[in-house]
Amino acid sequence: MPEDSPLIQSLRTAVAAAPADVPLRLHLAELLLNEGQSEAAVAEAAVALQHAPGDAQARQLMTRAMGLPQQPAPAAPETPAAPEAPSASQPAPAQRPAPPAQRPGFDWEAAEEQIGDVVPPRFVEAEAPVRADGGDDPGDAEAWDVERPGGLRLADVGGMHEVKDRLEAAFLAPLRNPELQKLYGKSLRGGLLLYGPPGCGKTFIARAVAGELGASFLSVSVSDVLDMWTGNSERNMHEIFQTARRQAPCVVFLDELDALGAKRSRTLHGGMRNTVNQLLTELDGIDAGANDGVFVLAATNVPWDVDNALRRPGRLDRTLLVLPPDAPAREAILRYHLRDRPIENVDLGKLAKATDGLSGADLAHVCEAAAERALLDSARSGTVRMIGMKDLLGAAKEVVPSTEPWFAAARNVAMFANEGGMYDDLIAYLKKRRKL
Ligand SMILES: Nc1ncnc2c1ncn2[C@@H]1O[C@H](COP(=O)(O)OP(=O)(O)OP(=O)(O)O)[C@@H](O)[C@H]1O
Ligand SMILES: [Mg+2]
Repeated sequence: MPEDSPLIQSLRTAVAAAPADVPLRLHLAELLLNEGQSEAAVAEAAVALQHAPGDAQARQLMTRAMGLPQQPAPAAPETPAAPEAPSASQPAPAQRPAPPAQRPGFDWEAAEEQIGDVVPPRFVEAEAPVRADGGDDPGDAEAWDVERPGGLRLADVGGMHEVKDRLEAAFLAPLRNPELQKLYGKSLRGGLLLYGPPGCGKTFIARAVAGELGASFLSVSVSDVLDMWTGNSERNMHEIFQTARRQAPCVVFLDELDALGAKRSRTLHGGMRNTVNQLLTELDGIDAGANDGVFVLAATNVPWDVDNALRRPGRLDRTLLVLPPDAPAREAILRYHLRDRPIENVDLGKLAKATDGLSGADLAHVCEAAAERALLDSARSGTVRMIGMKDLLGAAKEVVPSTEPWFAAARNVAMFANEGGMYDDLIAYLKKRRKL
């Protein structure tokens, strides 16, 4: 294999950091092709096409990289020699994609038509309706983006019945029942801390809870709140809660809560302490009732780093462990990630069984990798084929569960620092999986 030039090397790094950046990837493919590495160029063009199906430039590159017969490149519209002075009233004519007939080389339209008649059913069983995703309407002009009550509900969260039952009992049922609320009054205050390995649905579930409550959703990553200027972090924190109060009912979702509570950095960084104190003030509600209709959810991958003060009664006093998706959840996640891909005869039940232990993010990766396999294959053979079980199972076999390091760390904490039984759920799970 030829040695990569420094430019190609750095482009590879950039592409790895931004895998969905199509122009960047095409740039890399172009360079590879110019250096005679056509196989590598095909691979990059294939991934680009996966991200931007139908992209004319990607197709053209693919055709060239595959060494298919070249036709003159779709001629750029001849521009008059003397450039016209730009006129404000006349927008420049938009560059139209070349009509299909002019596209060089591989005839994608014909290929699509060719397989159009023989496309087998996508899934082996009946298809479920496409999952509605969270509402992403921008909020009114607030400094922090507030999503209007979205379409995402707990019913869209596949499987995870334990999590749903606990959410229902600990959070939703009391909130839905105003009589209960009246009866218990203040004691219903306080938020819920979701914790668990990365990529297993904490953010997704928080958004579904907001949908379930018919509440707006204000999601902030705590590291965004932290500001290098002293005092600004506190102001940011206050502003977030003020925004939520204006938009009530509203779920405030504090993601990566550990960025704030990091026990280790407390002594190093006095400013952090002030921000924690501000959050405590906001959680307690300055006057009684200030937080009516404001629900606080937080998430972290490292609950053992969260400041204890944040976990006292009335604050983030309840925890909910969000584990890697169970089989029905995996099925829902796989279905979602395969929804727009050309697949055939995919047995989701079987695939879900074969992907035990993988996180939501890992499953997305499996789908991506399977698509890459099929595309590469299609590109090499020159005939388009669908993504099948073989691609998916093959990709699944190669993916290492990304949650393993998390469980290794969590195991120690659960064994040696299970204060107040906080990690009882985790211990039960570890025992069940024979990891403890
Ligand atoms: N039970 C589920 N049903 C359907 N989709 C799910 C489910 N769990 C997770 N997902 C999908 O998995 C993806 C990853 O989940 P999410 O981003 O919520 O994980 P996370 O725990 O917040 O991860 P991180 O720790 O990296 O922030 C989501 O985009 C979501 O689409
Ligand atoms: Mg998240």
